[in-house]
Amino acid sequence: MRGKVFLKSPKEIEILKKANAIVMEILLALKEEVRPGVCTYEFEEIALRLCEIKKVQPAFKGYRGYPYALCVSVNEEIVHGMPRKDKFLKEGDIVSFDFGVIYEGFVGDAAITVGVGKISDLAQRLIKVTEEALERAIEKARIGYKIGDISFAIQSTVEKEGFNVIRDFVGHGIGRSLHEPPEIPNYGKPGRGLRLEPGMVLAIEPMVSAGTWEVKILEDGWTAVTKDGSLAAHFEHSVAITSSGPVILSKID
Ligand code: MF3
Ligand code: CO
Repeated sequence: MRGKVFLKSPKEIEILKKANAIVMEILLALKEEVRPGVCTYEFEEIALRLCEIKKVQPAFKGYRGYPYALCVSVNEEIVHGMPRKDKFLKEGDIVSFDFGVIYEGFVGDAAITVGVGKISDLAQRLIKVTEEALERAIEKARIGYKIGDISFAIQSTVEKEGFNVIRDFVGHGIGRSLHEPPEIPNYGKPGRGLRLEPGMVLAIEPMVSAGTWEVKILEDGWTAVTKDGSLAAHFEHSVAITSSGPVILSKID
């Protein structure tokens, strides 16, 4: 993901806002269906149905050969979990939904992690810290800051709590393509990297492990899990850098 950063006009940012609002609407609809006993494929079906209703294309399906519209990652699965008819949620699990759509030629991308029924204190803290890391990172998504400031905000928030950031996957620019330059690592040093400019649109996505940051890919070629089997959480927002500060495109009020 090296190369030119495509800056977006205010008009393009408006379209990206619609794309991302639809993504978050669908994510929240999926969240409503989370309960023990549901198979993870059911969420794929809901997501596909909502894409049809809203007249948008799922952005992940077919992307680099990924076969589904939705990524559903449970417990030690970090990202890119594939929806399965034989995998059922149970009380105490945590589940991450990562979803994207294409609307009028622009891509929206966001992710959330939610608990299934009553979850452990550790799982609750992991979810809270990961979401907080994203909030802290978005605070740095301002003109004059650098990519390293975003990365450091995530890493420091996470490590202060004794958790670890995943290093093998990164956030990214987003626009007409799902993945555009620049890459946004979830670890780094303040003041380093590319300077942020108005018109940049960034998908910031902390992935956090309660244990090791080391990753293993399962036999299916996609599902990324923590090497030590510890729980992982993932939150993602697409954010525009503007002269009036960060605009969270995938937020609905
Ligand atoms: N949301 C993921 C990302 O930002 C995209 C999933 S990759 C796909 O990288 F292959 F599943 F599309
Ligand atoms: Co993304």
